[in-house]
Amino acid sequence: MQQNSTWVPLFPEQASTFAWQVDGLYFYLIAISAFFTIGIVAAIMYFAVKYREKEKFATGVEIHGSIALETLWSIIPFIISMTVFLGGAIVYYNQYRTPKDAMEIYVVGKQWMWKLQHQTGQREINELHVPVGRKVKLTMTTEDVLHDLFIPAFRTKIDVIPGRYTSIWFEATKPGKYHLFCAEYCGLNHSGMGGFVYVMEQRDFDNWLSGTVSGQTPVETGRDLFENKLGCASCHAGGPQQRGAKLEGLFNTDVKLVGGQTVKADDEYIRNSILNPSGQVVEGYQPIMPTFKGQVTEEQLVSLVAYIKSLGGEGGANSSGGTGTSNPSGAAANPSNPNGARTPTSQITNSSVPGASNPNAPSNTSEPTRRENN
Ligand code: CUA
Repeated sequence: MQQNSTWVPLFPEQASTFAWQVDGLYFYLIAISAFFTIGIVAAIMYFAVKYREKEKFATGVEIHGSIALETLWSIIPFIISMTVFLGGAIVYYNQYRTPKDAMEIYVVGKQWMWKLQHQTGQREINELHVPVGRKVKLTMTTEDVLHDLFIPAFRTKIDVIPGRYTSIWFEATKPGKYHLFCAEYCGLNHSGMGGFVYVMEQRDFDNWLSGTVSGQTPVETGRDLFENKLGCASCHAGGPQQRGAKLEGLFNTDVKLVGGQTVKADDEYIRNSILNPSGQVVEGYQPIMPTFKGQVTEEQLVSLVAYIKSLGGEGGANSSGGTGTSNPSGAAANPSNPNGARTPTSQITNSSVPGASNPNAPSNTSEPTRRENN
């Protein structure tokens, strides 16, 4: 941990774009508290001496109201509390509204480690490598209990909640090695559930990426699960026999549900639809999809979400950074086609080039048959 260049002793370094804002707000609050605490204590002491009992049973002078005084002591605290509110609101909005062009990293917490995966496929445990000066979004969930990801140098901290996705973003400003903690008591080895964030120059980061075994990217893993292991494609692939809701171009769009409700097809919605399909049935479809609860891990769910995101939608395929290259066959990603319906031609192209859409899938050749059987 670098301890240099902290402007207040005991404070962690400021290493993200909004670290100074959080500190600024914090010191503003301390200054206000200190000012009033000192003022009040001093006044108590001064008055205690000045108005001490000089003769027995003296009566005080009667005081009548003062409009000017009362207005003043209402307006000044009002202005002070509004500046606190404004400062808090600005910091909050900066931290919790993720920019669209952020590089996304998936995080799964578990007792007692952090598992992270880059979009290019590299996996890390209790370590996170990020480039300096780049917006990074962490999409997070947990396999078991509540955890909380805390990177003090970035002044960023958020609960990681079972059954839900939460996300934060940051932009690191200084290369270095910074602490990463779990900040929610989560069992016996909670205190050991931590590690380091390595902020690197872009070039060093690129070197690190290329020097690290990548395996499948989340999108590739997701596609493999979708097309082969879980057989989602048997209903969700396009064509005349399609029984499941259309997924191409879906991400982040508004979906109309049976019953008239409209929801946004975000990470959370996709995750819920896989685990609890009958909960949010899309208008025009039957509730025939079985649940996949217990059959997929959180990491697989994250991959499936990444895959469906790669099929296009609002800010889906575009914001997914490096994943574009991993989906060259256009197995489905076609953001220019808002309807996303797979034309017969594209299906023929797919099946006539076995493995083109999924080099890792030995059973790919049998897939067209499976689709026809539907
Ligand atoms: Cu995980 Cu504390």
